Amino acid sequence: MKILFFSTKPYDKVFFDTHNQSYGFEIEYLDTHLGPHIVNVVDGHEAVCVFVNDKVNAEVISVLAAKGVRIIALRCAGFNNVDLEAARSHGIRVCRVPEYSPEAVAEHTVAMLLTLVRKTHKAYNRVREQNFSLNGLLGFNLYGKTIGVVGTGKIGSAFCRIMKGFGCRVIAYDLLPDVQLQSAGIEYLPLEAVLNAADVISLHCPLNPATHYLINDRTLAMMKPGVTLINTSRGGLINTAHAIDALKSRHLGNLAIDVYEQEEKLFFKDLSESIIEDDTIQRLMSFPNVLVTAHQAFFTNEALTKIAQVTLHNIDRLRQGEEPAQSNAILV
Ligand code: NAI
Repeated sequence: MKILFFSTKPYDKVFFDTHNQSYGFEIEYLDTHLGPHIVNVVDGHEAVCVFVNDKVNAEVISVLAAKGVRIIALRCAGFNNVDLEAARSHGIRVCRVPEYSPEAVAEHTVAMLLTLVRKTHKAYNRVREQNFSLNGLLGFNLYGKTIGVVGTGKIGSAFCRIMKGFGCRVIAYDLLPDVQLQSAGIEYLPLEAVLNAADVISLHCPLNPATHYLINDRTLAMMKPGVTLINTSRGGLINTAHAIDALKSRHLGNLAIDVYEQEEKLFFKDLSESIIEDDTIQRLMSFPNVLVTAHQAFFTNEALTKIAQVTLHNIDRLRQGEEPAQSNAILV
């Protein structure tokens, strides 16, 4: 079977080529995003493998179907960029990697939180210039603080457990509370109560129509003055313009984002010699209390190994007309 990969980076090839030795698929790697402009290149491929910023909408899916593609394999967990109804109506199977390393994302969330609250990013640069002054580096303890977690699935629950270990009070909101987390001391509250009470709020719910712009001027106003907000889930959860207003008014004390609503034009690319047209990200990066990483929370050796193994396993099982081992890997 021939598989056409989109949005490929050098590290994808390393992990997929290694694990493809057990399967022998004919893999062709493209570095471009999948979208209406490029979909015609899929001729002769029965499967496409896509990532978080590939645009797999109804228009793209109808061309994929017409050209004989039978499988869309996401090499990620989130699937907000795929029109599942369109895939279903064309009889295309869609699979993903539902759980590759929740700890990778949860630990990056903690890394961003600690960086912001102890200003280690500034300290790193400062001492390299032989400036050993502490002025401006005052932080705050996480011990004893209230951490609010929105979405306690695999990643959110890993983050909850880590923050419990820091000696924090952890409160959470989810449509489906997790009894194991409750017995571990995590308190579930309505969303508004979580936003009201938390010193730090971390988003771990998926992006869908119900969660789009979950964080907006109304919900930001419910948060404590000086709150720290972290988003390692999907950019569309935050109305970025409203977050910028809250930063300018000093209501939002710190913001850490690994995802950004316009990220597909920026992230995963070296734009160091380019003029960035996106004024919103430039404004965000100009704040001293904002930390941006470019969708790297998943990026560990363990996670990339699992992503390659599970993606190839999913495609192999679907090729044989069987279901993958993890039933929640199948979306359609
Ligand atoms: P999951 O499916 O295990 O958990 C999501 C949780 O959110 C579930 O418990 C669900 O009940 C809850 N939820 C759904 N709608 C909600 C709502 N309206 N309000 C509150 N909670 C709601 O997903 P997992 O694996 O924990 O991943 C979470 C998200 O993290 C993914 O959807 C993906 O967008 C993002 N992600 C980001 C990565 C990165 O590198 N930055 C890597 C992997 C995932």
